[in-house]
Amino acid sequence: MVVRSPGRINLLGEHTDYNQGFVLPAAIDKYAYVAIGPRTDNRISLLAVDLNENFETSISDIAPVSQTWCNYILGVASQFARCGLLDKGFNLAVSSEIPAGAGLSSSAAISCATAFALNELLHGGIDRLELAKFAQAAEHSFAGVQCGIMDQFASLFGKKDAVIHLDCRSMDYRYIPLKLNGYELLLFNSGVKHSLASTAYNDRRRECEEGVRLIARCYPEVKSLRDATPAQVDECVSGYEIVHRRCRYVVEENIRVLLACDDLQTGNLRAFGQRMTQTHIGLQHQYEVSCRETDFLVAKAISTEGVAGARMMGGGFGGCTLNLVQANAAERLIDKLKSEYARFTGKDLACYRVSTVNGTEVAQKT
Ligand code: GLA
Repeated sequence: MVVRSPGRINLLGEHTDYNQGFVLPAAIDKYAYVAIGPRTDNRISLLAVDLNENFETSISDIAPVSQTWCNYILGVASQFARCGLLDKGFNLAVSSEIPAGAGLSSSAAISCATAFALNELLHGGIDRLELAKFAQAAEHSFAGVQCGIMDQFASLFGKKDAVIHLDCRSMDYRYIPLKLNGYELLLFNSGVKHSLASTAYNDRRRECEEGVRLIARCYPEVKSLRDATPAQVDECVSGYEIVHRRCRYVVEENIRVLLACDDLQTGNLRAFGQRMTQTHIGLQHQYEVSCRETDFLVAKAISTEGVAGARMMGGGFGGCTLNLVQANAAERLIDKLKSEYARFTGKDLACYRVSTVNGTEVAQKT
């Protein structure tokens, strides 16, 4: 059986998921594929087709290993083992067309495909939300990134021609139709993969928790930044400069997502684009997870006619920028950014025109 699970974009709501806030992701037409088959012994045999690498272990020895790609699979397998569902081993081959390190959740897609495939193979009867949590747990305990739930949720719950408005506290969600009315979503891949990204990510998470502790001293009802207002952040955190900047960003971003949902629903894409750019400014100066290459790409994009907004996307420190562009201005933007980026960095700039798709599914039965 082959299962495929898509990568994702996130229109708005960055670094809000682990603060129990709101996000607006969509699954995209780039997939990770997992082929799975049963075994009669307790061995787990893995193959990364694109890397031409194998790995073998047994159920009782599942643990994080140095080959990163294995951890997204083994981490999920360990969740099934924890629930007593993994009584036999399996063979699994993985291949992906989602560029790694581009902020498109290539790792979540592998974990989600694995979770879905194992659930089918073992007749586990686990629902999609629980599978998303398995995949998130794999990232936490096997890859060391204390990520939120957005990426896994988007990969499993994606819907064609829609974005997902997810409340990361209640896990309530609704689909908002993505009507682009003459605009296009374009991704530019900076090609930058920051080696310290996971450490910096975990640091941001800790800084937010610190902010919540400070606010809760005066406002005990504040359990996460989701509950806090900008005024409360200023009142309780302003003595702590860095934590203050981080918290202001998150609180403002949550407000932006809610306003942006209205923009989407009323078809006001210009306003939506402006909010995307506001998010970038926040990520650049307050949350400080951008880098010079993505800043460059955003600055050049928003000074181009026909671009409603642009921003870095995902965890940060490189990866892709997301651009909302009038369809008839897209070619011009691509040409301009490719040549200016080559001059700025000496690198080729990859551009992806993506469309939204359904979440994880069986691609081939046998
Ligand atoms: C990464 C994480 C997500 C989310 C984003 C930032 O993609 O995996 O959980 O926190 O960064 O919005």
